Amino acid sequence: MKHLTKITAASLVLLFGAALSYAAPASENWENHCTKCHGADGKGQTKVGKKLQLKDYTDAKVQAEMKDDEIINVIAQGITDKAGKEKMKAYKPELSDDEIKDLLAYVRKLKA
Ligand code: HEC
Repeated sequence: MKHLTKITAASLVLLFGAALSYAAPASENWENHCTKCHGADGKGQTKVGKKLQLKDYTDAKVQAEMKDDEIINVIAQGITDKAGKEKMKAYKPELSDDEIKDLLAYVRKLKA
């Protein structure tokens, strides 16, 4: 019995560790956090996206204008307009650095 308790405790630690280090795949994060505005295809043709006049991320020209570190910064820190109103929120509190990097790669792959 004592033995069993030890094993149970050990597996709990393992399980907990796995849960903490869980990183959602970029496609899942894109779907959950980004498509509402940018659209599943990244064209920004959603109701909110049209209102915000989002750029079309399938457009090679738009992609060329964006720098990698800019994209990372935007996802991590968000965007506010000149009046300080939030246009896109900061995802740093919810997403790990790796998840943000994966999203950068995901956004790059939206290019048609
Ligand atoms: C509430 C709507 C909204 C959501 C949700 C949202 N964004 Fe944005 N995003 C914006 C706005 C507004 C801009 C600025 C306008 C533009 O660049 O087209 C922007 C800009 C960007 C840019 C362009 C940065 C640049 O350098 O021009 C990228 C890349 C981006 N968002 C990625 C994401 C990702 C990835 C997510 C999900 C984690 C996300 N966005 C979620 C509204 C949103």
